[in-house]
Amino acid sequence: MAVAAMIAEFDDVAGWTADAVEQLGDRYAIPAACRGSSNPSALAWLAEACELSAGSRLLDVGAGAGGPAAWAAERFGVRPVLLEPMQTACRAAARLFGLPVITADGARIPLRAGSVDVAWCLGVLCTVEDKAALLREIHRVLMPGASLGLLVVVARSPQTLPVPEGNHFPTQEELGALLTRTGFKLLEQTSWPGGAPLSWSRRVEQVRAAVAARHHAARAYALAVRQGERFGRLFATEQVSMQLIHVRRP
Ligand SMILES: C[S@@+](CC[C@H](N)C(=O)[O-])C[C@H]1O[C@@H](n2cnc3c(N)ncnc32)[C@H](O)[C@@H]1O
Repeated sequence: MAVAAMIAEFDDVAGWTADAVEQLGDRYAIPAACRGSSNPSALAWLAEACELSAGSRLLDVGAGAGGPAAWAAERFGVRPVLLEPMQTACRAAARLFGLPVITADGARIPLRAGSVDVAWCLGVLCTVEDKAALLREIHRVLMPGASLGLLVVVARSPQTLPVPEGNHFPTQEELGALLTRTGFKLLEQTSWPGGAPLSWSRRVEQVRAAVAARHHAARAYALAVRQGERFGRLFATEQVSMQLIHVRRP
């Protein structure tokens, strides 16, 4: 992932987010560190679909700054393991939540086959060129019968607007074929529910404002903002949609 805009978005901003949370307080950590546009309703859908239960080992592939995994640990008592290739994001997750973090690419997960009870991969597939390699590797580490929860940005129509750099959005047909080819069974899918409550979105905004106040002049900040604006325009024109998906390793 050598694209400067993605490094800015996924690494620099993750570190700045952790700095801002440390200033503002712990209650900001989970909302601010959910950076795949997940929100409590989306996370609850995934958690219920995957039947998360206390003590189970949840591998979050492309965990970013760790918000979704920390949310799952707090609400469902799972034992998360985070996997994330970006070093500053890994440090941010460790600083904010003290969770175990593996710095690695999702296509080469340094865990034993069948050693994971359940996995999440949220907002990651569209940032990865070789999506099949990533999914095959998740399939390998999951126990037979285990669930994988996905949040995927799906292309509704050919994109006529600029896409965020480094992103490749699958169509629904491509995604379905990809999941089948990599050995998963699609169980359920729904559109992202949107609309986080104000208690959540206000904290996200406060952290964003703190990051902007401190870093607005940085090149990485401008690159990350441009990525966000491109996403915003694609969603506003319905060229892409966000999907929550529950699949199982048979
Ligand atoms: C949109 S962010 C989502 C982060 C997190 N899942 C969340 O929902 O807050 C996408 C994440 O995927 C990670 N990523 C990109 N390529 C990856 C790969 N090949 N393997 C694992 N993670 C990857 C990025 O570094 C980034 O942290």
